[in-house]
Amino acid sequence: MKEQLDALSAAMFADLGTALSEKGLQELKVRYLGKKGELTAVMKCLGTLSPEERPLAGQAINAIKERFEEEFASRLAGVKEADKLHRLASERIDVTLPGRRNSVGTRHPVTLVMEEVSEIFAGLGFQVAEGPEIELDFYNFEALNFPKDHPARDMQDTFFLEGERLLRTHTSPVQVRTMLRHAPPVRIIAPGTVYRCDSDATHSPMFHQIEGLMVDKGITFGDLKGILTIFLNQYFGKGIGMRLRPSFFPFTEPSAEVDIACVICKGAGCRVCKNSGWLEILGAGMVDPEVFRHVGYNPDEVTGFAFGMGIERLAMLKYGINDMRFLFENDIRFLSQF
Ligand code: DAH
Repeated sequence: MKEQLDALSAAMFADLGTALSEKGLQELKVRYLGKKGELTAVMKCLGTLSPEERPLAGQAINAIKERFEEEFASRLAGVKEADKLHRLASERIDVTLPGRRNSVGTRHPVTLVMEEVSEIFAGLGFQVAEGPEIELDFYNFEALNFPKDHPARDMQDTFFLEGERLLRTHTSPVQVRTMLRHAPPVRIIAPGTVYRCDSDATHSPMFHQIEGLMVDKGITFGDLKGILTIFLNQYFGKGIGMRLRPSFFPFTEPSAEVDIACVICKGAGCRVCKNSGWLEILGAGMVDPEVFRHVGYNPDEVTGFAFGMGIERLAMLKYGINDMRFLFENDIRFLSQF
């Protein structure tokens, strides 16, 4: 048995010396001292020895076991320490690295323009009015003097919904809703989202307009021109060239289209203005007496003007954006420039 114990203890301490991890050490402990361990097996054979040999062998086994446990404990402490040092080195945090910033959002250029235009008109005494985007045929067309079979309805590429409902094609129905609720005088500006079945570099199926309406005793076409001149000079800068061309809208008579001198070439002629030197910017006119009759105003007592313009177009011209789709892709690199 002595040779057997010597060989076993030599193997045990050699193994202890080479175990490099906590797991490896624990495995060795089980292998030698566990219930089915090799040293435990020798211990179980003590009964086969003679009564004289037994205590000596027992002492020898206990001595090996104690030494093993001592060395095991110190090896374990060593392995744990090495492990800790390794983790400290590998998990080190560089506190000098810059932190991760939360990027701050900016307002959308369409919102910015809407607010700027509303503010200019607020300075001229106009109040902001709103209406629903799902609109009734009556407000979007009928009361604005588009009779049922009128060809002007075709110009609007309408998204029709069930019944008499549709997605409003312009902000003009807000005129009707406002006049039905309030007696004259009226001075409103109505920014909002509108929809048309149309999509390319300069058209989007959803876009924004701003509508203006002023009704009172004695309002003239001169007032319309005066207000629009003030607005365009504030929005595009003092001295911007402006002209009115005769046009047609069912809800105004007379009607005009308003151009500004091309913001790119200042009137000399370029690609953006198709060499005309002018850019169409809004539609306007004197409120048609037929519209007044629909809302219960007396056209013999009051007159008024109305105008409407596209916000995206105002934004594109002011900021030099050449494709409307940029405004709706919501690419943060584009949006954060405003
Ligand atoms: N609603 C017209 C459109 O979407 C724009 C417009 C033209 C509005 C003339 C008006 C106006 O109020 O008087 O094309």
